[in-house]
Amino acid sequence: MPTVLGIETSCDETAVAVVRDRRVLATVVASQHELHEEYGGVVPEIASRAHVERIIPVLRAALARAAVSANQIAAVAVGHRPGLIGSLLVGVSAAKALAWSLGVPLVGVDHVHAHLAAGLLAPQGEVDPPQLDGLFPALGLVVSGGHTSLYRVASPIELQRLGATIDDALGEAFDKAATILGLPHPGGPALEALASSASARADARDFPVARLGHGSLDFSFSGLKTAMLYAVRGLPEPSGAMPRRASDLSNSARADLAASFQRAAVRAVRIKLDRATDHLVAQGEAPCALLAGGGVVANRSLRAALADFAEQRRMRLIVPPMSLCVDNAAMIAGLGAELLAAGRTSALSLAPVPTTAL
Ligand code: KG4
Ligand code: ZN
Repeated sequence: MPTVLGIETSCDETAVAVVRDRRVLATVVASQHELHEEYGGVVPEIASRAHVERIIPVLRAALARAAVSANQIAAVAVGHRPGLIGSLLVGVSAAKALAWSLGVPLVGVDHVHAHLAAGLLAPQGEVDPPQLDGLFPALGLVVSGGHTSLYRVASPIELQRLGATIDDALGEAFDKAATILGLPHPGGPALEALASSASARADARDFPVARLGHGSLDFSFSGLKTAMLYAVRGLPEPSGAMPRRASDLSNSARADLAASFQRAAVRAVRIKLDRATDHLVAQGEAPCALLAGGGVVANRSLRAALADFAEQRRMRLIVPPMSLCVDNAAMIAGLGAELLAAGRTSALSLAPVPTTAL
């Protein structure tokens, strides 16, 4: 397979990577977390301006680390959807300029689909990427800050969405729960760390696990988030004021809440994985593997639940290493290479789109 350069700027990470034969030659990610921390969330205008400042240095760094010259690049892949429109625009503009100046194809990649393909890559230093023989059809799970979706995966480029969250994404729920607990943004990893404290009891509180309709493959996490809000702050008074603050709780009480939240969140995912598998089996398409991706797959408790699920359902488990779970450009280049091989390139009129393709 040819050498593909990937560009990712959909949210608050400026990333460029170079991939060849499903091997990551270089992956560079410039995170903007420190720019957004004081606001407790990503500020779109700040994000797009930071992408403009960082994209060229990150591009140069990736090419240097890969020890590849620009004229060895066979195609430029870019995450053009979904994301913050101003942020996407920076990556798409850079990718178009690079593809045009090198005279190589441009490949628009859906960021959510790319999360699923991340596990098919061999990270730097690893010997071989996973074998694709006998992997498909697979069940796909993306759990990130913006998306929580299940897919039937016939191949990395043939996906059918089976279900998605009807409100908050799982990562968003982790982040909001962390904010309620007084933890710094982005809160997912901080909540996991608190939940892993030695004293934390995951059964301290019975948080709600939304199942939705009978057989539904959709997710809902807003009830879980609200349950955390009331557990920490108390029920709102008629005036709307809330009786407590996170700082009124002891550290061990906060750790109990974090662990209980994590348990309910993981259980909700497990229930839908089982339902989706039953659904596919009933259609005569028993999945051979679970492909999982997205930032929340970095969570050890969720990773353990995915491993348990795959073992019980006798499926192969494909999860990316931690560095390829959160936003990166290697996954964009990896899926871009598959699309390129199938002839699915984009015109230079490619436009950023805020939503995911289904
Ligand atoms: O995939 P990603 O980097 O960006 C999006 O496409 O949204 O995912 C970021 C999300 C954030 O919500 C972050 O808090 C969450 O992934 N996350 C975690 C962990 N690491 C990252 N959530 C729970 N536990 C973690 N260890
Ligand atoms: Zn993402």
